[in-house]
Amino acid sequence: MKLARIAMLICCTAAARGQTEQDLADGKATFRSNCAFCHGLVGGGGRGPALNLGRFLHGSTDQDIQSVIQGGVPGTTMPSFEFEKEELANLVAYVRSLSGERSKVKARQLGGDPITGRKIYEQNGCSTCHRIGSEGSVFGPDLTRIGAGRSTEYIRESVVNPSSDIPEDYAGVTVITEDGKHVTGVRINEDTFSVQLRDSSQNFQMFQKDEVQQVIHETKSLMPAYNSLAPQELQDLLAYLDTLRGDLNAGAEVKKEKGIR
Ligand code: HEC
Ligand code: HEC
Repeated sequence: MKLARIAMLICCTAAARGQTEQDLADGKATFRSNCAFCHGLVGGGGRGPALNLGRFLHGSTDQDIQSVIQGGVPGTTMPSFEFEKEELANLVAYVRSLSGERSKVKARQLGGDPITGRKIYEQNGCSTCHRIGSEGSVFGPDLTRIGAGRSTEYIRESVVNPSSDIPEDYAGVTVITEDGKHVTGVRINEDTFSVQLRDSSQNFQMFQKDEVQQVIHETKSLMPAYNSLAPQELQDLLAYLDTLRGDLNAGAEVKKEKGIR
């Protein structure tokens, strides 16, 4: 019994571990119930990045992928998970198996010119609400690493139909004051008695609920929908946003902090 366990340990840590169909099916089931919510049903991406491009920012060995799953990615929505050893191995194997269709996916997603895309970004005033590196505003989410953190499909949807999925940290709220003034911003804090928001000029404003006429929770995004860009413009813009993967060294710093190798 003991010997068998040791043998299994050795076989399971080796990169060349032979997966059976059953292992992959188990990995897929684990993926569907724990990961699909952010990475898509078959890893095509969604709120989280696509995992089927054969390209992993945080490293593509079994060990790298395992570390990301166990440690999460600090400062992002990628959580940490605790799985049984075998379940984890099957999951990693499944994640790696997703890259099979790589070329097809890549060709479809990245048919644009990032340099033109950057101009389109500038011309459309995106930086009045977003920051890339040290430039721009922090009214909306920081886009410095958007290409690493979200799938292209998600980013496309965020641009043409921003209300389709609004991150909780960026929910909009409008306060109608006693004298009828409308103040709209990103909701920073709210309790029974008060609400705090950040307006588009980056000012924090705090209101006592019994001193205002109404507090409206917006279901629409605070970002305008850019749905009249020409298809090629949109494609170029997406190609540009896809190149935004942050500073790889900064990523290494985060890893070091977490003790992830
Ligand atoms: C709540 C959303 C969420 C869930 C659930 C989630 N992830 Fe993630 N995941 C992310 C985000 C966001 C990132 C990108 C982190 C970054 O910005 O570097 C990520 C990154 C990753 C990466 C690294 C990708 C790369 O390019 O290196 C892997 C691998 C990964 N996730 C696997 C998983 C697996 C496996 C599960 C399920 C056990 C899972 N994730 C569940 C949001 C999620
Ligand atoms: C008036 C401010 C404003 C402008 C202008 C604006 N955005 Fe946004 N953007 C936001 C806010 C607020 C959010 C978060 C709410 C949401 O997802 O709809 C957001 C979300 C996004 C997201 C999703 C980020 C994530 O991690 O979920 C992307 C991508 C994005 N914007 C790109 C752009 C691009 C590209 C432009 C220019 C073509 C642009 N935005 C112009 C305010 C703005």
